[in-house]
Amino acid sequence: MNYRSHSNSKLTARFGDALLASLAPDGGLWMPEKIPHFTPEQTAKMGAMSFADCAAKLARHFVDDRFSDADLTEICRDAYSFPVPIKALNGTLMDAATPETANEYMLELFHGPTLAFKDFAARFMGRAASHLMNAENDTRTILVATSGDTGGAIGDAFLNQDGIQVFILFPKGGVSKVQEQQLCTMGGKNSNVQAIAVDGTFDDCQKLVKLGFGNKRLTEKYSLMSANSINVGRVIPQSFYYFWTSLQIKAAHPGVPIVYSIPSGNLGNLTGGLIAKQMGAPIERFVVGNNSNDPFVDYLKTGKYSPRASVPTLSNAMDIGRPNNFPRILVLNDNDHDTVSDICWGASFSDEETERHLRQVHRTHGYVMCPHTAVGHLAMEAFAYDIEDEFIRVTVATAHPAKFVDSVERIIREDVLLPAPLQKAMKKTKRVHVMAPHLKALEDYLELNTA
Ligand SMILES: Cc1ncc(COP(=O)(O)O)c(C=O)c1O
Repeated sequence: MNYRSHSNSKLTARFGDALLASLAPDGGLWMPEKIPHFTPEQTAKMGAMSFADCAAKLARHFVDDRFSDADLTEICRDAYSFPVPIKALNGTLMDAATPETANEYMLELFHGPTLAFKDFAARFMGRAASHLMNAENDTRTILVATSGDTGGAIGDAFLNQDGIQVFILFPKGGVSKVQEQQLCTMGGKNSNVQAIAVDGTFDDCQKLVKLGFGNKRLTEKYSLMSANSINVGRVIPQSFYYFWTSLQIKAAHPGVPIVYSIPSGNLGNLTGGLIAKQMGAPIERFVVGNNSNDPFVDYLKTGKYSPRASVPTLSNAMDIGRPNNFPRILVLNDNDHDTVSDICWGASFSDEETERHLRQVHRTHGYVMCPHTAVGHLAMEAFAYDIEDEFIRVTVATAHPAKFVDSVERIIREDVLLPAPLQKAMKKTKRVHVMAPHLKALEDYLELNTA
């Protein structure tokens, strides 16, 4: 598969080069030249495979000839060694063999090592990048801006990998305590993964990474690579779980339309969903939940896109005023607002509404959501309000509630148990560098800390 810059279709690259270069030479986002499409017969066969094998089958249409089928199977089986459960709100698993009467599910994407959906993309991307770099004896410096979850997933995916150094930039005081602990304790004293607390917002972190990439001297000197969702290698694997899970749901509920609700910020997760739909996944529509940072929901409603400064909210990983993947969504839909708003419906919610909803779902069903997931679930409820026809609701649960233990415990007034990997991280001593939000400060730090 070849990739094209979203802003100049004459600039093309093979998958591996697009992955390692992160951005096109004109600063554009790489997009697949063509999204593969599968017939219902083909999709039925792929739905009968394991998630990892289905992912490998999809991946072969997006990579280049430096990846054999056997390489992809190995990458995907190794990356996806954890479950992808689809659960009813009472906690029982949906099982295609014994279809339930339930019409509402949570797609729990937080069973990977860092307990957020970012593991799906980071683990594929990490293994694909290493595969290419090992073949070419390459070295890279990865810069990643995080609003909380991406940094952990990327750090984990690249931890202890030869030839790779990872610098995670997060907004100081802008991530949850558990997320911060996770980011600042990856590996030992001489770890190849280092955390930098930027004195600013997530948008400042994202801007710094973009400035780094926009600087040819820095990019060449440090062989910079981005692991943010500006990198197409992050976005493609996020289509795999929409594709496979929609086929599992279709098998359990034949003939009933399926709608996914996605709590959104940078729109990388939604982009993955839109790609899956174009590949033939049986998904009728997407519901998009925003917090008060809602330029995309505004765009859906008005056709006008007005990026803005972000404001802090309870669902901090979605505090994004200028979503990186907006241009990709336009490219996928021929730049047509009517097409985007036919496929996507959106609503935004305040922190008060989110808290009330999280508490109410817990009281009614015993199900505990993270604040981001609660925004997605609220959006699904708002969407369903006026719809009389039967459809299956799937809310994407993007992170384990324990990653936001302070706010979730306060809201539900109960203890939330930390899963083992988080308990381990909480006992470790933090290593973190605090930095002003200026390119010069980043440059100085790289100079002193790259091998
Ligand atoms: C828990 C959680 N939910 C939702 C999102 C938003 O996803 P996206 O930025 O792909 O829209 C993020 C992103 O960091 C996240 O960490």
